[in-house]
Amino acid sequence: MKITIFGTGYVGLVTGTCLAEVGNDVLCMDIDQQKIDKLNQGIIPIYEPGLEEMVKENHQFGRLRFTTDAKMAVDHGLFQVVAVGTPPDEDGSADLQYVLSVAKTIAEHMTEYRVVVDKSTVPVGTADKVKSLMQKTLADRGADIEFDVVSNPEFLKEGAAISDFMKPDRIIIGTDNPRTTELLKALYTPFNRSHERIIAMDVRSAELTKYAANAMLATKISFMNELANLAEHLGADIEQVRNGIGSDGRIGYHFIYPGCGYGGSCFPKDVKALERTAKDLGYQAELLSAVERVNDRQKHVLFRKIHQHFNGQLKGKIFALWGLSFKPKTDDMREAPSRVLLEALIDAGATVQAFDPEALAEAKRIYGSKAGLVLCKSQSEALENADALCVVTEWKNFWSPDFAQLKLKLKEAVVFDGRNLYEPKQLKAAGLTYYCIGRPV
Ligand code: UGA
Repeated sequence: MKITIFGTGYVGLVTGTCLAEVGNDVLCMDIDQQKIDKLNQGIIPIYEPGLEEMVKENHQFGRLRFTTDAKMAVDHGLFQVVAVGTPPDEDGSADLQYVLSVAKTIAEHMTEYRVVVDKSTVPVGTADKVKSLMQKTLADRGADIEFDVVSNPEFLKEGAAISDFMKPDRIIIGTDNPRTTELLKALYTPFNRSHERIIAMDVRSAELTKYAANAMLATKISFMNELANLAEHLGADIEQVRNGIGSDGRIGYHFIYPGCGYGGSCFPKDVKALERTAKDLGYQAELLSAVERVNDRQKHVLFRKIHQHFNGQLKGKIFALWGLSFKPKTDDMREAPSRVLLEALIDAGATVQAFDPEALAEAKRIYGSKAGLVLCKSQSEALENADALCVVTEWKNFWSPDFAQLKLKLKEAVVFDGRNLYEPKQLKAAGLTYYCIGRPV
């Protein structure tokens, strides 16, 4: 099948590549010439396990091509997949300018029937906006060409995006036209083999499904973080509580790990946008605003513990920071808890020696040569002359450090763990003072 993807960011690139992998003819379009030039040379703009090899292979076989030519893009695919960004506006609502500009481009160039497939996370009602903008653009051209708009949200997790696409839990197809459901079902047949994963529904419900999923997951995390803080006051161990509640099938073990807050490009943005949508409709979404507030507070938890431990004397102290990305297996630092911590430490006069297996270049891009921040090439380099260690991202390399070495290297022999990676008893036995989230130490 012929497919055009608008936007070669995270979602667009993974979607295009996976659709090419199963034999489709995919053309990816982006307005960023530099990005397209690089992709044509096999250089991909993000780190995602397995993606680079897949892009190269499909590109070599000619199934995956890249262009900046809008006319060529619209001519190419029966399916015109919209995977451009919807960054938050100043008031928290999703900024639709890129989505609408793609819709306009499609309507300006199309000469025959097209299915516009929206993969970007967009507020409920966007498909209707896309439809009326396209109708108006076509009318201005004096063209009478049929098209359909489908909401087909993506549920990829960074770090596991390829397997999430190839073996999805569900494929949501939101459309008010049965003809389009059939076309989308055909497109997704290769990913719908072992059992039925396609869930067809109306457009608005599909748009809301995406927000509902992310908001539910964010709620689970904030709930656990709230309980972790409470457990500290009560002298209870949140890790034991987690096991205790996770064993109830209705609750489950997933997404109930307490920590130093959720980050990334999705949860913070989507919770805010849904809350904003509610507000615009005159509805106060109490739970959503609490989820967000709890998370913002949680991102400061490690700093508070550090501040307390050192009696506010942070000036001149050196902190090793392990983990910059918002979660393992990505170089993405958007809304990462590491940023809140490192900025607070530096503001308090400390130096931060940070290491991350993938996000060093991204940190350099964000912070340049920020005073007080030293980017280190290894986790042991970050420990050189450090007073204390802070662990913020649960990369596997951090799971089992040599505690005796840590005790020798750290001047204050203290570890602040934002991901509950270690056993308090083990650190105590090694002579280290240990702070974590919601556990007695
Ligand atoms: C999230 C969703 O999980 C995907 O299903 C969705 O498609 C995606 O957003 C999106 O909307 O595009 P992602 O942002 O890649 O995926 O990351 P997650 O694995 O969900 O982690 C988000 C944050 O929650 C991370 O900072 C992680 O450390 C934190 N987290 C996760 C916890 O603090 N505790 C947990 O138990 C789980």
